Amino acid sequence: TDTPAHDSYGRRIDYLRISLTDRCNMRCVYCMPEIGMQFMPRPELLTTDELLLVVRAAARAGFRKIRLTGGEPTLRPDIVEIVREIKRIPGITHLAMTTNALRLEKLAEPLKAAGLDRVNISIDTLDPEKFRNMTRGGSFEKVWAGIEAADRVGLHPLKLNSVVVRGMNDDEVPRLAALTLRYPWEMRFIEVMPLTGVADLAQSSVVTSAELIARLESVYGPLEDLGLAPADSARRYRIPGAPGKLGFISSVSEPFCATCNRMRLTSDGRLHLCLLRDHEVDLRAAIRSGATLDEIEQIIRYAVALKPWGHGLPDGVLPTLRGMSELGG
Ligand code: GTP
Ligand code: 5AD
Ligand code: SF4
Repeated sequence: TDTPAHDSYGRRIDYLRISLTDRCNMRCVYCMPEIGMQFMPRPELLTTDELLLVVRAAARAGFRKIRLTGGEPTLRPDIVEIVREIKRIPGITHLAMTTNALRLEKLAEPLKAAGLDRVNISIDTLDPEKFRNMTRGGSFEKVWAGIEAADRVGLHPLKLNSVVVRGMNDDEVPRLAALTLRYPWEMRFIEVMPLTGVADLAQSSVVTSAELIARLESVYGPLEDLGLAPADSARRYRIPGAPGKLGFISSVSEPFCATCNRMRLTSDGRLHLCLLRDHEVDLRAAIRSGATLDEIEQIIRYAVALKPWGHGLPDGVLPTLRGMSELGG
C-alpha cells in the first residue's frame, strides 16, 4: 500500500474533493435552480466516521490533497472536528476548503487552529445588490467579513473564485481584478459550465478566458503570463507590479483533463470519477456492508483505474445524474 494510484491514462490521482453536504445557504444562479431543489435525506449522507474511513483508505491509495466542498461545507455542524480529524491522517499533506464564506467570519479561526491550510471563496461581484441577485439572497457584507477573517488568520494563499456569467457579472471583472492591486490574493475567473439544474444557462453565457484577458488588457495594459502549473485548474497572470495574481479557469474553452489529478466523493458516499461525466463507484454500500480499510482502499484503486478521460465540452455530452451543488464544483 501507499504507492500512488495512476489511472489508465497514466495520470496520477492524488486529490480528493469531498462534498460534505448537498445543502447550501445560498442559491447561486449557475449552481442551483431557483425552485424545486430536492436535498438528500439525512440518512443518505456519510456519517463523519464513515467519511474518515474513506479518507484513511484514500491516503493509503496515494491521495495527498483533500478539499472539502458542498453545497456549503460549513453547514456541517461538526466541520471543525472533521478538519481536525482529517488533518491527523498520515499521508494527507494538504487540506483545503471551498466555501461561500457566509459563516467564515466566526469559523475561520477555529478552522485554522484545527489544521485547515487554505480556503477558496466564491465571490462573483463587489456590488451588494448584484450579489444578492446572483446568489438569490446572499449577503455581500457577511461574505466580505468572512474573506477578511480568512486573511487575518492566515488561511493563505487565499483564492477568490468568480464564475463569470454574461450579462450578469461580466462587467464586474475589471473591478474584481483590481482587488489584486490591493491584496496578495489570487482572483480567479471561471467559465460557467452548464450542468444539471442550470443547463438553461446556455453556452452563450460563457465568457471565455481569452475574452476576459483581452478586456483586462484594454484596462490594465499587458498582463504578465505566469503560466500553468501541472495539474492546476487555473492559468495565472499578474497585473504588472500587483501583489496579487489573476487566475483563469477555462473548463469550457480549454479543458485541463490531460493533467487532471482529482476525483470526488459525493456526500452520499459515491466516488464520482470525473466532474463532467456520470461514472460513479459506490463506496457507501461497501462501508455499510462492513468492508475493511483494506477493502475500501482496493475499491478506491479500482475506481481510479476506471476514471474516464474527461468531458466533451463545449459540444459533447454532459452528466445528468447530479448538479453542481451535489458535486462541489
Ligand atoms: P486549488 O486547490 O486552489 O487549485 O483549487 P481548485 O481550483 O481545485 O478548486 P475550487 O473548488 O476552487 O474550484 C474552482 C473551479 O474549478 C470550480 O468552478 C470547479 O468547478 C472547477 N473545477 C474543479 N475541479 C474540476 C475538474 O476536475 N474539472 C473541471 N472541468 N473543472 C473543475
Ligand atoms: N460552472 C463553473 N463553476 C461553478 N461553480 C459552481 N457552479 C458552477 C458552474 N456551473 C463553482 C463555484 C465554486 C466552485 C466550487 O464551483 O463558484 O467556487
Ligand atoms: Fe452554494 Fe456554492 Fe452553489 Fe453558490 S455555488 S449555491 S455558494 S454551493
